[in-house]
Amino acid sequence: MARSFDDFVSYLDAKRSVDDRALHRPTVDRLVAELDERAAARGDEPVRILEVGFGIGTMLERLRAWDVLPQRVEYVGVDIDKTNIAAAADRLTDGDFEQTGPHQFSLVSDEATLTVDLQAADAFAFAADRHDPAVAGPQFDLLIGMAFLDIVPFERVAETLLPLLAGGGLGYFPITFDGVTDFRPVDDPALTATLLDSFHAAMDAPDRPGGSQTGRRLFAELPAAGADHLAAGGSDWVVTPRDDGYPSDEAIFLRHIVDTVEHALLTETPEATLDGVSDDAISAWARQRHAQIDHGELVYLAHNIDHLIRMP
Ligand SMILES: C[S@@+](CC[C@H](N)C(=O)[O-])C[C@H]1O[C@@H](n2cnc3c(N)ncnc32)[C@H](O)[C@@H]1O
Repeated sequence: MARSFDDFVSYLDAKRSVDDRALHRPTVDRLVAELDERAAARGDEPVRILEVGFGIGTMLERLRAWDVLPQRVEYVGVDIDKTNIAAAADRLTDGDFEQTGPHQFSLVSDEATLTVDLQAADAFAFAADRHDPAVAGPQFDLLIGMAFLDIVPFERVAETLLPLLAGGGLGYFPITFDGVTDFRPVDDPALTATLLDSFHAAMDAPDRPGGSQTGRRLFAELPAAGADHLAAGGSDWVVTPRDDGYPSDEAIFLRHIVDTVEHALLTETPEATLDGVSDDAISAWARQRHAQIDHGELVYLAHNIDHLIRMP
């Protein structure tokens, strides 16, 4: 099975419309209200937003399209993968941004000023570097980590990222995976159940950060790290075919998900949880799902949770 970074960029692009449908709107509404308060507290100074696991920048595009951002914003996007950051830079300059430095971009109009600083870096190293305990109040007004907290160790989030918000900064952690994956229809439900349980078991391996139930664990972990929990809600991915096929590029999204499940089952899953299912049977199962995508028959769902916090 061939996978490449270019595939990942296409996947993140195709994921955008799935996320648009999924995001929990009452939590977005609360974020808008809280950001308005941060903007008022900042006066003439820009609101400072840090997005970790920035990917190719689809959340920034969405926040603009949904009119979530205050008038003056300094946005920093950090992703460990420089291919993602290069794709993000292209999307900014292909849009209405002007490049003002090697990693800096800006968009200035009569109504708004938005500057973007893109960093190809590890989010935790970036945060450790930026943290200055002498600064009064939050160093960022908002930290965003979308589809991110389920793939990183929470202890590092608590130790290095959340302190940047101390003094009233907000944390928005949408699309945090929470333990349910399903594909329909399948002609062998028992085999599918074994494979999907094994897929989740691979996420829960002791040497792997995050985990399959991160979404629900955050209800306890965020307050234990000192956060005030402001809002939460389900943001399930549900992809269904229409008469003319899948919307937007969602067939690409589905193919990536099927490949990800197959890859995890073939390379990461503990033998015991697979209950004797062979590699050939796993690959045949994945081929059947791809054939269903070809024919516009496959339905996919995954359960995610969005969280919004404030650090006192
Ligand atoms: C599942 S993707 C989500 C991307 C984007 N937030 C979205 O939802 O479209 C996770 C992203 O986190 C990035 N990432 C993983 N570990 C990271 C780290 N330690 N620091 C910064 N970025 C990281 C990956 O390169 C990837 O782009």
